[in-house]
Amino acid sequence: MTDARTFPEDFLWGGATAANQIEGAYDEGGKGLSTSDFARYKPEVSDGADNFTFEVTGADLDAADAGRLEGVFPKRWGIDFYHRYKEDIALFAEMGFTTFRMSISWPRIYPTGLETEPNEEGLAFYDKVFDELLAHGIQPVVTLSHYEMPIELTRRYNGWLSRECLEPYVKFARTVFERYRDKVRYWITFNEMNMNLTSVYTGAGVVMDRTDRPEREVAYQATHHQFLGSALAVRAGKEILPPDARIGTMINRIEVYPATPRPEDVLQALREDQANLFYTDVQVRGSYPGSMLRYFADHGLNVEMAEGDDEILAEGTVDYIGISYYMSHMTADRPGAQEDVGLLVGAMKNPHLEQTPWGWPVDPVGLRISLNRLWDRYQVPVFIVENGLGAIDTLEDDDTVHDDYRIAYVHDHLVQVREAIADGVAVMGYASWGPIDLISCGTSQMSKRYGYIYVDQDNYGRGSGRRIRKDSFSWYRDVIASRGAALDGPEPTPLGR
Ligand code: BG6
Repeated sequence: MTDARTFPEDFLWGGATAANQIEGAYDEGGKGLSTSDFARYKPEVSDGADNFTFEVTGADLDAADAGRLEGVFPKRWGIDFYHRYKEDIALFAEMGFTTFRMSISWPRIYPTGLETEPNEEGLAFYDKVFDELLAHGIQPVVTLSHYEMPIELTRRYNGWLSRECLEPYVKFARTVFERYRDKVRYWITFNEMNMNLTSVYTGAGVVMDRTDRPEREVAYQATHHQFLGSALAVRAGKEILPPDARIGTMINRIEVYPATPRPEDVLQALREDQANLFYTDVQVRGSYPGSMLRYFADHGLNVEMAEGDDEILAEGTVDYIGISYYMSHMTADRPGAQEDVGLLVGAMKNPHLEQTPWGWPVDPVGLRISLNRLWDRYQVPVFIVENGLGAIDTLEDDDTVHDDYRIAYVHDHLVQVREAIADGVAVMGYASWGPIDLISCGTSQMSKRYGYIYVDQDNYGRGSGRRIRKDSFSWYRDVIASRGAALDGPEPTPLGR
């Protein structure tokens, strides 16, 4: 039974990560090099409010071949989850997690993507991780491709710009579905395809200096191929996985507000919202929405589609929608707005919202609106598979971290999730981003921390790697143990920095 204060009994509680941001061991266990192994930490930009500062170029890959590539590459060492997974999972269990989202590193299974046989050592590693999770009663949620792929597919095909990636991806999906069919119930085909507009290297392994096509067209072309890959993986999953398995899509959901009630501004907000919902439209409904086809035509974007693609998309629709939610966005009918549809951080500042130190507007009510909007539009369950606050934390001399601001952030978002459930939205669960500090995706830095667990490590990988419980650790544990009733305890301190 639920009452107004508690979440449903089967609600999944936990945290979310990605292989390339936690595992490290980039050249161990037979793993091949990944696109993420080339992502640099650039102190001069990463420590400011900038995001997605690294785009890897073909010239970088040539330099790597010649042994001349310079830089700091934190995703190569992550937080050493590869060796410390037991300790980390024990801490998740201590918080009461019932779910843990992670990804499988594709080049750990197929080092170049092109082998005919998978790398057994890589497969065995994930067996151990899943067994450890299940032994603690934690259901894994597994993303097949979370911002990485074998670098060889970039060198050879320029990543997802080419249809040639389809065969290796579907082979990879089939391999892990077959291997883990009895261990993993929840799957996600791709992480945030909509971020291809922000970084097509991160999202789709495309280097822009090896194509003459315009960047926006490249992003949508790569996305089209990923849609096909996703649909073919869903089809394979339906054949291989048990009937109770669930395969989802995952988008970075950004609620869009018009700056004024002027109809032109409202129309612009609608257009940007359609651009964000395009990904779920295709993967939940199985076809391209007219609004995007018109957008392509109006902007002269020539996205090549082959005969038979429509059928593939129609047959490969997903069971649920996973979302990451960090912010909302405000817009108006102004010069340039048409081009901004993929922006992560809105070009207009919403005066009603505070921002994180990285300029991300904090908008818990926007999460409730998003959950309602997705449910109203699709009527399929929604799983919040990312949400959280990246902040600079201070480790005190007595080994404590007082992260009231993080408690306030998660508290306020969970209250809105509870409201959305009361509104009638089918919300499967809440997995906050980076339950343990990890390497930032956008900036490759360590000092942008999301965790309930502090990791003693700096931006250059220096430190003991020790895991330390922050104040938010016991707070989140109490929320989970009470199925949300603890949210109604003393009011947490508002976002203070
Ligand atoms: C999401 C990504 O968009 O945002 C994660 O799926 C990422 O991989 C998260 O880490 C937070 O972004 P950042 O740049 O703060 O790490």
